Amino acid sequence: MATQMRILSLIPVLFIFFRSSVAKGGATYNVQSFGARPNGRSDCTRAFLNAWAAACASSQPSTVYVPQGRYLIGAAAFWGQTCRSRHITLQIDGTLVAPSDYNVIGHTGNWLKFESVNGLSIIGGTLDGQGSGLWNCKNHGRNCPIGATSLGIYNSNNVMVYGLRSVNSQLFHMIVYGCRNVNLIGVTISAPGNSPNTDGIHIQSSSGVTIMKSNIGTGDDCISIGPGSSNLRIQDCKCGPGHGISIGSLGSNFNEPGVQNVTVKSVTFVGTQNGVRIKTWAKPSNGFVRGVLYQHLTMNDVQNPIIIDQKYCPSGGGCPNSAASVKISDVTYQDIHGTSATQVAVNFECSKMNPCKGISLQDVQLSFRNQAAVSSCVNAGGSSFGLVEPTSCFRGRN
Ligand SMILES: *[C@@H]1O[C@H](CO)[C@@H](O)[C@H](O)[C@H]1NC(C)=O
Repeated sequence: MATQMRILSLIPVLFIFFRSSVAKGGATYNVQSFGARPNGRSDCTRAFLNAWAAACASSQPSTVYVPQGRYLIGAAAFWGQTCRSRHITLQIDGTLVAPSDYNVIGHTGNWLKFESVNGLSIIGGTLDGQGSGLWNCKNHGRNCPIGATSLGIYNSNNVMVYGLRSVNSQLFHMIVYGCRNVNLIGVTISAPGNSPNTDGIHIQSSSGVTIMKSNIGTGDDCISIGPGSSNLRIQDCKCGPGHGISIGSLGSNFNEPGVQNVTVKSVTFVGTQNGVRIKTWAKPSNGFVRGVLYQHLTMNDVQNPIIIDQKYCPSGGGCPNSAASVKISDVTYQDIHGTSATQVAVNFECSKMNPCKGISLQDVQLSFRNQAAVSSCVNAGGSSFGLVEPTSCFRGRN
């Protein structure tokens, strides 16, 4: 009887297999055909992994399709190493929901992890990390797991994420690590301003990453850029609430790859702790930051609109205090305007042994409650062009 049932239940699966394999534009694998139930309560992890395995084994470009509805899914890793398919699309019309008990995925590092997938598109959909229980635990100083990043993309090339919404992650919303050529377009990220460690997008050890037309509000950095990142473009985005767009933190290790060629263009910051920040530890390091262009930025009531902090130490206690740090050079701020929520709107606190070099301020206008804001420089060299308010405070050009 059980066997008969199993065979019977396989018939629609086989039928869809057959239909999808002859469909135009490659094979489509609907997660519901693999047993996923869109009720938000049945565990769909297996069904998603099996649909992925089928798409991965396809000889054509393939699609995993997630229809409307809510799908409960635990920690899942989607591997690409052995795939025959040269491009897999995950098309999501529904919402993927993490288990409400944060302990289930809280120790796994990542909730949904894509590893070594070359040729990946994730289109549409919502990821709901259900992080509030864990934030609550952390905010009460209890013994809690660190939490899971909602979407981790690792060691993958030629990736597109389009129109995805991520809400209430336990930890970071997205990580791009060890990747080349990644485009994140029209992404929406949201978590409350007081939710701990819910960074929007963290990029590390990656090259050729573009984030465009995205709206990010979180309890930590909207976007953070870690060591070994180059050729990045962030454009036409909104950030707030959150801690701004940060390069760093860098320099926690002596041997650390640098960050170079970063453009942040046409971004609006609303009520954030920082606008554009570079943060490095006061520790000797081989690391560097060079070739950064911040252009056409609007600051709306931002506490630190422009900041370089080479004595970064968020915990307050036991901070390193070396005169050396990561080397920072060629950083341009062009057409930055709006309001600062504190009087120091421009703050360059650079290291004594490795002063910041080649900082350029061009057409910067920041005010503080309709008064003049001020700028503050420590070991910072550069030049200013056009109208710059507050007046720059460089000592020497380099
Ligand atoms: C800098 O990065 C951009 C992508 O944002 C890329 O188009 C450009 O070629 C890079 N420049 C260099 C010198 O590598």
